[in-house]
Amino acid sequence: MKKILITGGAGFIGSHVVRRFVNNYPNYQIINLDKLTYAGNLLNLKDIEQRPNYKFIKGDIVDAAFIDQLFTEEQIDSVIHLAAESHVDRSISNPLEFVMTNVVGTVNLLNAARHQWKHAYSNHRFYHVSTDEVYGSLGETGLFTEETAYDPHSPYSASKASSDHFVRSYHDTYGIDAVISNCSNNYGSFHFPEKLIPLSINNIKNNLPIPVYGKGENIRDWLWVEDHARAIDLIFHQAPAGSTYNIGGHNEWTNIDLIRLLCKIMDQKLGREPGSSAKLITFVTDRAGHDLRYAIDSSKLQADLGWKPSLQFEEGLEKTVDWFLNNEEWLQSVTSGNYQSYYNDQYGKR
Ligand code: NAD
Ligand code: DAU
Repeated sequence: MKKILITGGAGFIGSHVVRRFVNNYPNYQIINLDKLTYAGNLLNLKDIEQRPNYKFIKGDIVDAAFIDQLFTEEQIDSVIHLAAESHVDRSISNPLEFVMTNVVGTVNLLNAARHQWKHAYSNHRFYHVSTDEVYGSLGETGLFTEETAYDPHSPYSASKASSDHFVRSYHDTYGIDAVISNCSNNYGSFHFPEKLIPLSINNIKNNLPIPVYGKGENIRDWLWVEDHARAIDLIFHQAPAGSTYNIGGHNEWTNIDLIRLLCKIMDQKLGREPGSSAKLITFVTDRAGHDLRYAIDSSKLQADLGWKPSLQFEEGLEKTVDWFLNNEEWLQSVTSGNYQSYYNDQYGKR
């Protein structure tokens, strides 16, 4: 039985990846390693937690001795690495935590893999899940390709860029079979409500202001999270060692247009007067170092592995709103406790 370690499997994207692998590959043993920070939640995996090919281990990738021991005891065959501090605004208030988890944690995993697999690197794979933010910011035209030079601007993207460099260096120096993908903004179920779309859904539902940074003119390229998980599956199984793939939705939206669309959907779903949710839009101080535009050229992934996004954004956004409205208990559980103090620090008292 192939043993695959998925890190960060209790988070937003990780939980979709774990679910996909547990369901689609009964001959793999899936080990989900997660520290369960504020962003990790085992409720995200309730539907598969009893499956015989699934195991959860609570642990911190920053703890090198623990990671080494885990690789030895579990005889890990391959890694899909998603564990990270992932929120740009938090990286602005606490950069060091991002260096520890995203850089040191990644190097700890690489070291453990290097020692455990040194006799036959080609039978093992280290898949590092990264972001398009490493490429920096686009002007009004152009797309990020796999050849775009790295130019990170936030402590988050700088830490992800650094971890990408370490992964490539372990492939080039030690011969580890490593692959990297750089994806655009994801949306969908289990998205933590500190990020724009779930935060706005939650606030609209509760009649609270929708905080739009600056003038809302920044552009993001949105991809349904299950399309990302499908791309990860294809890349894990089929990409050549040492390769990089960009993943994106060809789906650019200014933040303000996206929020207006979301308000329209929420008015319909909540049976509110058309236009009433949009009255909650509130322009607030811009994010420091705010990248203007991200947009991905995913033609390499489409040509090599036959991937393409499966959902139109309007359909995906409606599905996402339905999921949040039907999963009140989940939303309550993640917005209690620490979430309130984060929210007050970031946006001021409600
Ligand atoms: P998330 O914040 O929802 O989840 C991160 C998970 O990692 C959580 O379960 C958390 O408990 C765990 N974790 C954090 N620190 C850890 C540590 N020290 N040890 C073990 N586990 C730890 O993040 P996400 O949005 O699901 O992102 C997952 C990955 O995908 C990240 O590497 C991120 O950089 C990348 N990514 C995210 C997006 C996006 O739009 N969200 C887009 C492209 C790439
Ligand atoms: O591009 C991929 C990246 O997408 C991932 O690597 C990150 O992990 C993920 O968090 C996401 O980063 P962003 O900064 O783009 O996502 P966020 O949802 O925080 O913000 C999206 C846009 O909305 C961005 O331009 C900032 C803006 N925004 C965000 C928040 C939280 C607001 O206007 N108001 C807000 O309250």
